[in-house]
Amino acid sequence: MSKQQETLRIGIAGLGTVGGEVARLIETEDAHLHMRAGKKLVVTAVAARDRTKKRAAALKNVAWVDKPVDLANRNDVDVVVELIGGHEGAARDLAEATLKKRKPLVTANKALLAHYGQALAGLSEAYDAPLYCEAAVAGGIPVIKTLREALAGNTMLEVYGILNGTCNYILSTMRQSGRTFADVLGEAQKLGYAEADPTFDIDGMDAGHKLVILSALAYGAPVNLPGLKADGIRAISANDILFADELGYRIKLLGIARMTPQGLMQRVAPYMVPQNSALAHVDGVMNAIYMQGSAVGPLTLIGRGAGAGPTASAVLSDIIDCARGRQASALAVSSQHVKAVNMLPDEMSESAFYVRLMVMDKPGVLAELAAILRDARISIQSLLQKGRAEAGPVAVVFITHDTNEKAMADALLGLAKMQTVLEPPCLIRILPD
Ligand code: NDP
Ligand code: HSE
Repeated sequence: MSKQQETLRIGIAGLGTVGGEVARLIETEDAHLHMRAGKKLVVTAVAARDRTKKRAAALKNVAWVDKPVDLANRNDVDVVVELIGGHEGAARDLAEATLKKRKPLVTANKALLAHYGQALAGLSEAYDAPLYCEAAVAGGIPVIKTLREALAGNTMLEVYGILNGTCNYILSTMRQSGRTFADVLGEAQKLGYAEADPTFDIDGMDAGHKLVILSALAYGAPVNLPGLKADGIRAISANDILFADELGYRIKLLGIARMTPQGLMQRVAPYMVPQNSALAHVDGVMNAIYMQGSAVGPLTLIGRGAGAGPTASAVLSDIIDCARGRQASALAVSSQHVKAVNMLPDEMSESAFYVRLMVMDKPGVLAELAAILRDARISIQSLLQKGRAEAGPVAVVFITHDTNEKAMADALLGLAKMQTVLEPPCLIRILPD
């Protein structure tokens, strides 16, 4: 075996939280990684914005390139690891250039895959250059390989999970402490769990990027970000958390991809999760994914969805696959087998709903509410009112039997217009037992 075949030469773009840790582990775990990869792993070239910044890795005898895209062209780079982030600019240019150079690409970039996953998978196939992306969904949880390889023999019926650690931290801390959303968000920002601009996490887009990748892997469908409905957790109040507990649920932000006879239902939203399910007890920054396959039945993976170590663990598994020559279709099926999947029209999507109204506490309110639900043909399963407030609003909560989104949206419009309803209604879908 020549010297070159005994070594896998790695170019890393991005030396931040994930890239710095990947480079550090390649330096410090070299003997173990050599054994697992069957080759010595060596970082030969890197790119980042600031060469003077202190990095997690020593990076001795490593070349720096001016532009990340230069890594694709270097003769001393066998595999490019893209850990810059963002779906345009340097990350996209590097990903495309690498595959077109017929070199393997490892990426943790969910935004890039959610926007351009199909095109990149096409390039991977056209240029016979493998594309590895285990770290792009749920960090250290090996869900990409589980869906793409371990469950390949199954028709997937349902995939859903807690895909955003920031939201899970906020919701579980609200429940444990009784504090408000704004208060807990502020604390999460101070602790570094939430970004200074938390919009992407708390409005559901981060989970959405991960969900559309999982959905493509599970159903052999094109990655469909425009077809996604995403709501975040801003509207969840301390009251809702208390009501959820009382009704036997925990509130979790879920990404759900479920195949129905009428098409694929794909949604990110807060859900009432029954307390007897495993996901209800996944707290803090942890992630979890439930999968239901035709042959395997139900399966749940729980673990750390972000952070330097867990994400680097996933990136290293891809680098080792690359060293071993293990290659699978990037998005589970080759482009000729990607099948157009009908999306379930949103108004037809069915579930039970929790609705909280803040109302004036006076006679006739419940009668008016019941009439609006009757007119929308929505049946109430249970109804709760707590406390008595002559001056201020009181919370009225009801749970419906299964109904469709259209009926529920019509009813919500009517409820919001009631003179006695003092705040926009809060709606949370209920995950079936
Ligand atoms: P960081 O912001 O910590 O690091 C980004 C790195 O990219 C930095 O080293 C930065 O350089 C470099 N960089 C940014 N823009 C450029 C550019 N134009 N040219 C060259 N270098 C550039 O990000 P993370 O490590 O957190 O994330 C990396 C990827 O991993 C993202 O796609 C993210 O979504 C994904 N991911 C991250 C997880 C996490 O827990 N952090 C979890 C799962 C996935 P410099 O250091 O000089 O500023
Ligand atoms: N911001 C993400 C989260 C981590 O809170 O889960 C990176 O995917």
